[in-house]
Amino acid sequence: MTRAAVLNGLGAWVPPRVVTNDMLSAELDTTDEWIRTRTGIAQRHVIEPGTATSDVAVEAARLALKSAGTDRVDLVVVATSTPDRSCPATAPTVADKLGLSGVGAFDVAAVCTGFVYALATAAGLISSSVVDSALVIGADTFSTILDPADRSTRAIFGDGAGAMVLRAGRPGEAGAVGGFDLGSDGSGADLITVRAGGSEQRGSGAAAAAADTYFRMAGPRVFVQAVRHLSGSVRGTLAKSGWSVEDIGLLVPHQANARILGAVADELGVPADRVANNIGRVGNTVAGSIPLALADAAVRGRLTVGQRIVLTGFGGGLSWGSAALTWPGISTPAIGNDILEIK
Ligand code: UT7
Repeated sequence: MTRAAVLNGLGAWVPPRVVTNDMLSAELDTTDEWIRTRTGIAQRHVIEPGTATSDVAVEAARLALKSAGTDRVDLVVVATSTPDRSCPATAPTVADKLGLSGVGAFDVAAVCTGFVYALATAAGLISSSVVDSALVIGADTFSTILDPADRSTRAIFGDGAGAMVLRAGRPGEAGAVGGFDLGSDGSGADLITVRAGGSEQRGSGAAAAAADTYFRMAGPRVFVQAVRHLSGSVRGTLAKSGWSVEDIGLLVPHQANARILGAVADELGVPADRVANNIGRVGNTVAGSIPLALADAAVRGRLTVGQRIVLTGFGGGLSWGSAALTWPGISTPAIGNDILEIK
């Protein structure tokens, strides 16, 4: 292959409003101690009323474009499971808000694996010369679909977005993206789901039960699958890249639960200091999670030019996926709203 997609810009954004564990404990039967111990999460960021996923996506995208030093791309891909509307896709809205009206734009829905799937799609379109550049955004506002009374999901999920700008380049250069591993198991669809609102429920002719309009997750069953598939998918990407576990300079897993990050690191034999971990400050931001964690690591000075990075995600579908890249010599990525510190 003579052409590859190369990382050219990175940005991430979370809404300014912080919801701490103590704030959740004031309205739900939970405690700061339970949430920190079981998940590693101290706070999450939540949108204000009147904000939609496209708004969050646009903020991250603007920072990524600034980091890349450009205001033009050929394609906008948005990974999200909380689109502005069930129809149309959110990406054309995002492109329009960015002044990119006219470019190709579509959504990718793979829940927490969405960013890896969107990255693989955009990288493939660049490698095959369909486009010369792309903006890949992972954005979700799960606060809009959580059951206000469900302590197990409200403790975990936060809103946020991350974005990458990709350009056409050469396979061996710093920033080149590749070695994708993608997988799914639809028999696990019920484990992470919003049952109502789609063709299955609407086509049944039955009215939606109120409880089914909210996001549901079978946490402990998902936990086991997450560790298994994240580890397996990382191995798949390493094999495709010709890398070994020792080559990983930074593993950037989907930030689902600090205990999952630890279990995956143990399973693979990756030292904890080579695993990106920002879940304490932002919670699980679904499709935004992986680029948010990468941007956080970059801002903290954890990356050097040419360093080998593996991104890995797991979530609803079930779905999983990983990607390999090297860190390019791009300027320090912009990151929004001071997500570096716990407030
Ligand atoms: O992002 C996509 C992929 N997602 C994941 O990978 C998430 C994977 N799952 C998890 O991270 C964990 O399963 C959770 C954090 C969701 C739950 O933690 P857990 O340690 O697996 O708890 P559990 O669901 O087994 O529940 C244990 C107990 C239950 O009480 P009983 O039935 O033992 O009395 C829950 O009701 O903890 C209770 N519980 C809580 N207690 C206080 C659940 N959530 C809370 C809470 N505060 N927020």
